[in-house]
Amino acid sequence: MTVLRCGHGPWRFLQRVASAYWSAGEIPMIVLSINGQDAQVDAPDDMPLLWVLRDIVGLNGTKFGCGMAQCGACTVHLDGQPVRSCVLPVAGAVGKKITTIEGLSATELGKRVQQAWLGIEVAQCGYCQTGQIMSAAALLAQKPSPTDEDIDAAMSGNLCRCGTYVRIRAAIKQAATGQITVPQTVA
Ligand code: FES
Ligand code: FES
Repeated sequence: MTVLRCGHGPWRFLQRVASAYWSAGEIPMIVLSINGQDAQVDAPDDMPLLWVLRDIVGLNGTKFGCGMAQCGACTVHLDGQPVRSCVLPVAGAVGKKITTIEGLSATELGKRVQQAWLGIEVAQCGYCQTGQIMSAAALLAQKPSPTDEDIDAAMSGNLCRCGTYVRIRAAIKQAATGQITVPQTVA
């Protein structure tokens, strides 16, 4: 098991305080299951999961956008469900399976979604695409043949400033059906 500690960022002071308590045996280390591996993390219970993933564990494929559960850039899976890691205290992820974009290709479905994204060439700047892909994979795991309405509902919380929505929908359909659907408009 890997032991990881926070060394910088806005939580540094809190981290030192937490570490002092932990050293005194009063705060246990947090054990997380991330992409199929256990990681022992030295972090305060209320640190957002996104901070833990990026700053402590070093998985920076998950992005910070708004920090207020409004844009979806930070989406990861918790027991297969899409969650906004920027507002989820790390304590809420203990005992659950966390999947990030780095671990998505461990499943056949995850690979298929990523291949579709590449095939359709969805990304423009790419910043939002981790969150988009994670939301799309969670949708397809729940609904293997989603309707347009299903896609709109599942993806409505993931914003893209580059406007790649048409290609995102096409990629989701390709991942679902294996058929390449050429977008009608190119964003
Ligand atoms: S960064 Fe989490 S929803 Fe925007
Ligand atoms: S691809 Fe640029 S924000 Fe979505």
